[in-house]
Amino acid sequence: MVILLIIGGSASQKLAANVAQELGDWLCPIETKKFPDGERYLRVKGKIDKEAIVIQSTGFPQDENLIELLFLIQNLKDLGVEKIKVVVPYFGYGRQEKRFKEGEAISAQIVANLIENAGANEIVSLNLHEDSVREFFNIKSKNISAMGAIGEYISQIANDPIIIAPDKGALHFAEEIANILDCSCTYLNKVRLGPDKVETRIADIRCDFPADDPEFAKLTETEKNKKEKQVNIELVKGKEAIIVDDIIATGGTIVNAIKILKEHGAKSVSVCCVHPVLVNDAVLKIYAAGAKLIAGTDTLKSEVSSISVAKVIADALR
Ligand code: R5P
Repeated sequence: MVILLIIGGSASQKLAANVAQELGDWLCPIETKKFPDGERYLRVKGKIDKEAIVIQSTGFPQDENLIELLFLIQNLKDLGVEKIKVVVPYFGYGRQEKRFKEGEAISAQIVANLIENAGANEIVSLNLHEDSVREFFNIKSKNISAMGAIGEYISQIANDPIIIAPDKGALHFAEEIANILDCSCTYLNKVRLGPDKVETRIADIRCDFPADDPEFAKLTETEKNKKEKQVNIELVKGKEAIIVDDIIATGGTIVNAIKILKEHGAKSVSVCCVHPVLVNDAVLKIYAAGAKLIAGTDTLKSEVSSISVAKVIADALR
């Protein structure tokens, strides 16, 4: 098995090396650079095999990283590789998975088609913004979760924390982590007013289900366990609050959540995410709002990428 190391301005070199170490596989060097006119050059330098794993996130600069990924896949096919597993730890363009306004390009679908048509035989990604993105692929696809790695990290930095989802869409992350750590969780209500403007309010959570409540009785055991972990925001008082989300982009979502948690008396507020996209001064904004710590995974390289998903990826590839 060959693992391709992405080098020279590419997105996932260290992560690929760590995955190779986890799997005990060979890391194949490539050469990638730009011609003076800005066009990309790519060469696979090592000996190749019948199977290969390509690891490349398609975060900023999205178009460059995507082109490099497509060059890699199709080049490997041309060079005789028969099976290519493509790992895109952060799937750029994944947030436009439908037409929100008439006439919009469904970018996630276009990118999925490009990757598949280049010759990918299998695709693995982490915490896709919408799992439905997998439906754009006709090849085998996996959407794996980094929550196990994040949960383990939180267990080392916090004592009996409360896990906060900054919006209802992130509640399943908070529930997953609360389950791992056997602690409580809650969520906030967020409305997006524009790409960099969000409004957040507290949510009125129903967490007083008596065992004979017909609504509660309808739930599966797993759902009941999750519900029982949910508490109202008042219980954040005096606790170490940990906000968990899939993506931090402008930081607006997190800044709003921190404000509410502080107003409700949280002892400290830390922030964890899977994909630290971190647009412009997002890190500064979040610390200025009073965060004790920000930690993201290494699906994207950033100054806060301190949680590795190498093992999670390696396990999905075994
Ligand atoms: C949205 O639903 C996502 O889960 C994140 O909450 C969002 O992408 C964060 O964006 P921003 O940091 O720009 O508020």
